[in-house]
Amino acid sequence: MKKDYRHYLENTPDAEGRFGQYGGAYIPPQLVGPMKEINDAYLKISRSHRFIEELRSIRKHYQGRPTPVYHAARLSEKCGGAQIYLKREDLNHTGAHKINHCMGEGLLAKYMGKKKLIAETGAGQHGVALATAAAYFGLECEIHMGEVDIIKEHPNVVRMKLLGAKVVPVSAGLKTLKEAVDSAFVAYLTDPVNSIYCIGSVVGPHPFPMMVRDFQHVVGVEAREQFLEMTGGLPNLITACVGGGSNAMGLFSGFLNDPCEIWGVEPLGRGPKTGDHAATATYGKPGIIHGFKCYLLQDEKGEPSPVYSIASGLDYPGVGPEHSHLKDEGRIKYTAIDDKECLNGFFTLCRSEGIIPALESAHAVAFAMKKAKEMKSGTILVNLSGRGDKDLDFVVDNYGYGD
Ligand SMILES: Cc1ncc(COP(=O)(O)O)c(C=O)c1O
Repeated sequence: MKKDYRHYLENTPDAEGRFGQYGGAYIPPQLVGPMKEINDAYLKISRSHRFIEELRSIRKHYQGRPTPVYHAARLSEKCGGAQIYLKREDLNHTGAHKINHCMGEGLLAKYMGKKKLIAETGAGQHGVALATAAAYFGLECEIHMGEVDIIKEHPNVVRMKLLGAKVVPVSAGLKTLKEAVDSAFVAYLTDPVNSIYCIGSVVGPHPFPMMVRDFQHVVGVEAREQFLEMTGGLPNLITACVGGGSNAMGLFSGFLNDPCEIWGVEPLGRGPKTGDHAATATYGKPGIIHGFKCYLLQDEKGEPSPVYSIASGLDYPGVGPEHSHLKDEGRIKYTAIDDKECLNGFFTLCRSEGIIPALESAHAVAFAMKKAKEMKSGTILVNLSGRGDKDLDFVVDNYGYGD
């Protein structure tokens, strides 16, 4: 029998931050106090009328919500099957869904009397969104970023600096997202009284996966209402790309109790045989990273494996604990799209709809194109998590104009 998800969000995670066997807080003793402070403050403040009203007003007047749902008719025609719709999170201020949780985290920091926001970033979208929130609330901001990503995502580094953030280059290991998280946590521990860690996805120790999911939930709530109004029904399938999983959880959390298929799309990079991918839910097994339990790409010793994706924001060996749990429950299915398919999705959306997607989002577009052909009829709703401005130089220098 189908599980009832009507009260799922109120009851999940549990008080210890568990989503089934996943999540929790596997943290050093010096982090226990700061995490409890954030959790207690979040539970109290985020439910207050004042906080809810202020966040609602920011979303409407500053961020540009609600973002539209758009029927991609020419893309659908090209695929020749199901009709594809896009939830346009790329139209948010700063160009991606990340601003949804950053304004929430920034507002919480303000209510808690914090002076500084600290975070990691991969593609730079979370860093830009957090630097924006810091400027908006008049707070300091420090963003840790792998040196590889600093080169690849140069436009976002410039934006963060213009917004007044300090960008800290990380030269350890593969110099990408995982190492940036390590570095940001160390920096946060030097002054947890005046600063707050603002994680960039539904990952990390409790309460971050819950907080970020709650702040992203607006995407699913809006999209469901908009889709019903536009079409008179619900989509047959919804999908989103999955790095840590915040844009996906945002959309999916609005549809868990509906009869829609739900698909998370991971990066298959250069293919499963090469090992150069970051398809965590697809190929990983349960393990621990950055203070939480989840599906993890790991070696025999349980150490996170090196990962790769053409999209820096998907380049992470773990995945949100809630994704891990909903995978085990069978409510969400996971699949993976390789770099070549991603680029095809990227160029096709540019040419057929006049929309340049982020490389991360192009993974979900490519999957929707594949599925649309297969399904022959019905509807697919894709979370277009971000715009591709940050990726233009990288794509054109390496792959030309897609001709
Ligand atoms: C546009 C965009 N989409 C998706 C992601 C992946 O993050 P998440 O899985 O948390 O949505 C990123 C990360 O930087 C991003 O910039």
